[in-house]
Amino acid sequence: MERTLAIIKPDAVAKRHTGKILEKIEAAGFRLAAMRLMSLSQRDAEGFYAVHRERPFFGSLTAFMSSGPCVVMVLEAPDAIRKWRALMGATDPAKAEAGTIRKEFAESIERNATHGSDAPETAAAEIGYFFAGMELV
Ligand code: CMP
Repeated sequence: MERTLAIIKPDAVAKRHTGKILEKIEAAGFRLAAMRLMSLSQRDAEGFYAVHRERPFFGSLTAFMSSGPCVVMVLEAPDAIRKWRALMGATDPAKAEAGTIRKEFAESIERNATHGSDAPETAAAEIGYFFAGMELV
């Protein structure tokens, strides 16, 4: 079993796509190990995306991520990291395959509906950023 952090970003929550995205997650066989609706401060978003600090889009990305509520989750499945990234599709929705979440729901490369961890080490760090061990069920 593997765990990954997943976020339904403020664009998708604001457009009321949360339920549809959760349905796809459950239909794909993931088990929810944790879930919270929350509003990130700009500082929270800056901490989460610290690896992108030097990127030109950092300010805009963190402003977007703190612009409204998002849903943070821990998903569990065999090969969860790769499997969740496949279900989301490419970062840029213009390049995402048909049937993926980003193809269906994302607005742009920045406002791209969902986030997923990219490797086991980042998954562990990202899960720990949002959830205490006792919150994982
Ligand atoms: P995510 O998978 O959460 O990881 C980093 C995020 O940065 C990414 O999704 C997008 O929201 C954003 N991002 C990545 N590349 C760009 C870009 N070229 N311009 C704007 N935002 C980007």
